[in-house]
Amino acid sequence: MKILGIETSCDETAAAIIEVDEKNGYIKPLSNVISSQIKLHAKWGGVVPNLAAREHLKNILPVITASLTEAKISQKNISLIAVTHGPGLIPALLVGTNATKTISYVWKKPLMGIHHIEGHIYANFINKNCNDIKFPILCLVVSGGHTQLVLMKKHLDYEIIGETQDDAAGEAFDKVARILGLSYPGGPEIAKQAEKFKKSSYAINLPRPMINSKNFNFSFSGLKTAVLYTVKKNEKLLKDPSFVAAVSHEFQQAVVDVLVAKTICAAQKHKPKSILLAGGVSANKELQRQLGLAIQEKIPHVQFSFPEIAYQMDNAAMIAAAAFFRYQKITGKNNLLSNWKNLKTDANLKLSK
Ligand code: KG4
Ligand code: ZN
Repeated sequence: MKILGIETSCDETAAAIIEVDEKNGYIKPLSNVISSQIKLHAKWGGVVPNLAAREHLKNILPVITASLTEAKISQKNISLIAVTHGPGLIPALLVGTNATKTISYVWKKPLMGIHHIEGHIYANFINKNCNDIKFPILCLVVSGGHTQLVLMKKHLDYEIIGETQDDAAGEAFDKVARILGLSYPGGPEIAKQAEKFKKSSYAINLPRPMINSKNFNFSFSGLKTAVLYTVKKNEKLLKDPSFVAAVSHEFQQAVVDVLVAKTICAAQKHKPKSILLAGGVSANKELQRQLGLAIQEKIPHVQFSFPEIAYQMDNAAMIAAAAFFRYQKITGKNNLLSNWKNLKTDANLKLSK
């Protein structure tokens, strides 16, 4: 079956078509179109919801058309439409949900709402057979809005065993980048600066918040404040690229240390067969490398994977992939044809079965 996915929860207008082989559940993207608004929001240092909505409105129809053209199919070949209906910025989400409601009504196609984080988790199943990843799964979700450890005993079954008490990991990257005078989004900028770090330059020491706490929760706002104090004490040094590189390196390492320690601890307790990374911060090469090494060393029988590069940040193929698994479980599939009347957008949508 072919599924059209749409994603507009933040600052990317995205549409994608996936083809799923229903015999083995192999998910193959036929197109993955993303129109990014990074340049527009960079001058504000973060995403401005109403500006995002205006851009989504401009882009949504061309992006959907491009996803069909790139996939070399027509709307007749689509079996299901899936859209992110939360969590996210309401003005942005409404553009995607209203566009898909219209399309679902006019094309007479079933419509499903998908949780954005569920999409990030299922990005791991793209270009794989659905049985390639073994349950139970422990998933480290690290995005701009979420930092969670999610235990999944089976498909679509989510138990949040730990989460951030304040800032999300990606949010901390973005805020620290702003303190260092780097551009938005901060994650890739900090990673780039951290690569330039040389041991012989500045010695910066930042805390590893909650690394020894007896639970799987996180906290990143104190770490961000520690960076702020370090910079305030040495404001003139911001002009020195090796100082910026040293702070970036230490900050990134502090985040990676906490994420790796908590994930390994959670895995030792809950004994998953697989560990997955999900969300925009999964693009961080040091997180990928150091978590991979820790798993190899401490729990080598556990399978480790993260999404392919094209599906790490916000995209619509992941929304379509999650929809495939939800669609399998739905009994009254015919009701999906009238979902254009019922689908609700929810800024604080919770992950549910
Ligand atoms: O999942 P995502 O694309 O959007 C949300 O759902 O929030 O994640 C965006 C976040 C941003 O905070 C961005 O700074 C972070 O992911 N990010 C990174 C990297 N690439 C993106 N963080 C650390 N290292 C990276 N290489
Ligand atoms: Zn995201």
